[in-house]
Amino acid sequence: MRKKLFWAGMIFTVSLLWGGADSGMQLLAPASLSVYHEQSASVVVKVTSATIEKIVITTETDQQINMLAVQGRNTYCKTIRLLPGENKITLTAIGKEGEIGKLSTIIYHDIVTEKKYRYPPENYSVQMFHLASNEKRCSPCHKMEVNESPGVAFENPTDSNCYGCHQKLTARPHGHAPAINWLCTSCHQTQKGGEYTFKLPDKIGEACLNCHKKEKETWEAKRFHHMPFDAKQCTRCHNPHSGEERFYLRAKPWDLCTSCHADKISGNHIINTIIAKTHPTRGKPDPSRPGKELECISCHNPHASDTRSLIMEKSPMSICAKCHKK
Ligand code: HEC
Ligand code: HEC
Ligand code: HEC
Ligand code: HEC
Ligand code: HEC
Ligand code: HEC
Ligand code: HEC
Ligand code: HEC
Repeated sequence: MRKKLFWAGMIFTVSLLWGGADSGMQLLAPASLSVYHEQSASVVVKVTSATIEKIVITTETDQQINMLAVQGRNTYCKTIRLLPGENKITLTAIGKEGEIGKLSTIIYHDIVTEKKYRYPPENYSVQMFHLASNEKRCSPCHKMEVNESPGVAFENPTDSNCYGCHQKLTARPHGHAPAINWLCTSCHQTQKGGEYTFKLPDKIGEACLNCHKKEKETWEAKRFHHMPFDAKQCTRCHNPHSGEERFYLRAKPWDLCTSCHADKISGNHIINTIIAKTHPTRGKPDPSRPGKELECISCHNPHASDTRSLIMEKSPMSICAKCHKK
């Protein structure tokens, strides 16, 4: 008798640790320990217990999201906002008598412009969602196939089959044309018969310059190229979908530049070796661009230039006159 109870106890404990069966829920997304480059992730949960009336999602943003169970529906979906770094997501199943079960998962949101969050800890990895095995779980309710005609913008974005699940990617104030027109496969080509459906472009700079032919010609003809531009790391500075800043820059230009040029953070930028005095790089109005503040791109082109040090004018000295009129 005692032995039986012991085993019953063991099985109960083990199943609690596994979280799955006893919580009355099965998490279909996100995959545990996956890396997210974007600011959002989809939480999809399948309900396996009829006694569940409500599921509460708790995230790092301290926001609580309630999903009420509906008769005849067994899967619930919600896109949540991520904070930089580790994000713990907890789901609590509530029934008539209170809490029935709990499960949680943890994912990582990396931020290339912040050193602290640039490199996810080793136990995290990028995991592809669009595998046949995952898509099969969504297709009872969602259309999963590509329905865009190459180069033809959707008149109404909601007509794109991708929109319902990915609308957060284009919801920021500055949107990149191919993304806000839902021409997703212009960058994420589909793999025929591949392990997963959509490619994450690796040589992204080439994809960018394929469309931006005019810029490609202009920039490549210049004498001096910025290293990350030459390395085709366009997405080190630009978000490919949309962003809070103009040109979907991943941060305000000054922060973007100093995220690599850390030696310029303290404001000790010597721009004139003759007088060898430091020059401000921010916090003052920029006389050459009314309404804007002084920043690195007041004087430097972020991509390429015919003048050394990527100076925008014909020479490092002639640039002074742009702002300092005699
Ligand atoms: C039982 C039907 C059903 C299944 C199965 C289902 N969904 Fe949904 N999903 C919906 C409905 C209905 C909506 C519209 C919003 C709502 O009512 O929750 C939705 C909305 C969404 C959203 C948008 C949520 C938001 O906050 O804007 C995402 C993302 C999503 N589903 C992802 C998925 C994924 C991924 C799968 C497969 C792993 C999946 N869904 C399976 C019914 C389903
Ligand atoms: C049923 C919901 C759903 C639909 C419809 C959907 N996706 Fe996704 N997709 C996801 C989820 C969930 C992820 C994982 C990232 C996340 O949580 O946002 C994802 C990830 C991706 C990724 C990153 C690579 C990967 O496989 O993880 C790409 C690219 C992508 N989707 C493109 C598309 C395109 C293009 C369409 C339209 C043809 C589409 N998706 C339709 C749910 C969906
Ligand atoms: C201009 C090229 C481009 C277009 C257009 C584009 N993407 Fe992306 N997408 C990328 C790149 C590059 C990445 C890799 C992540 C990064 O650099 O931030 C990416 C990453 C993603 C991811 C993974 C996000 C994560 O959290 O890791 C999803 C999901 C996605 N794209 C969906 C879409 C959807 C849906 C569309 C159509 C609205 C779309 N993309 C249009 C270039 C593009
Ligand atoms: C499918 C074609 C296509 C691809 C691929 C593409 N773009 Fe674009 N991009 C456009 C179009 C169209 C516009 C809007 C027209 C314009 O203003 O030049 C645009 C606009 C922009 C702008 C704003 C330009 C302005 O003057 O307002 C930036 C910045 C940009 N793209 C960066 C990128 C980056 C970075 C990539 C690669 C991650 C990329 N683009 C890939 C088509 C593309
Ligand atoms: C080091 C950061 C950085 C990199 C790398 C970078 N950009 Fe930019 N880009 C910027 C900044 C900053 C601006 C805004 C310039 C301004 O406001 O005057 C910009 C502006 C743009 C514009 C619009 C205005 C213009 O100057 O034509 C386009 C298009 C563009 N970038 C495309 C690209 C493409 C394509 C790549 C990759 C080949 C790339 N960028 C790489 C920082 C970068
Ligand atoms: C992804 C990292 C990265 C970012 C972001 C970045 N740079 Fe650079 N930059 C480099 C590297 C690498 C070099 C070449 C090595 C060096 O001189 O430090 C360089 C060189 C330069 C140079 C000297 C070029 C020469 O010919 O001597 C200037 C000027 C410059 N960057 C300005 C900027 C400005 C302005 C920004 C913001 C728009 C910026 N950088 C953002 C990595 C970056
Ligand atoms: C007021 C104009 C101006 C501003 C603002 C400015 N620079 Fe410069 N920068 C210059 C000049 C001029 C040179 C020297 C050119 C030469 O003699 O080769 C230079 C040189 C550089 C160099 C190469 C030499 C070195 O010191 O490493 C880098 C890198 C650089 N700047 C980055 C930046 C960054 C990052 C910012 C923003 C934090 C910035 N600059 C802001 C004008 C400016
Ligand atoms: C994009 C505009 C711009 C350019 C280009 C520029 N400056 Fe300035 N400069 C400023 C601003 C803004 C200030 C701050 C004025 C104030 O304090 O109100 C400043 C201040 C100065 C100061 C005073 C510094 C101090 O600490 O008081 C000197 C000296 C100076 N600049 C020299 C130069 C020289 C030399 C060049 C060319 C190599 C140059 N500037 C290019 C905008 C510019």
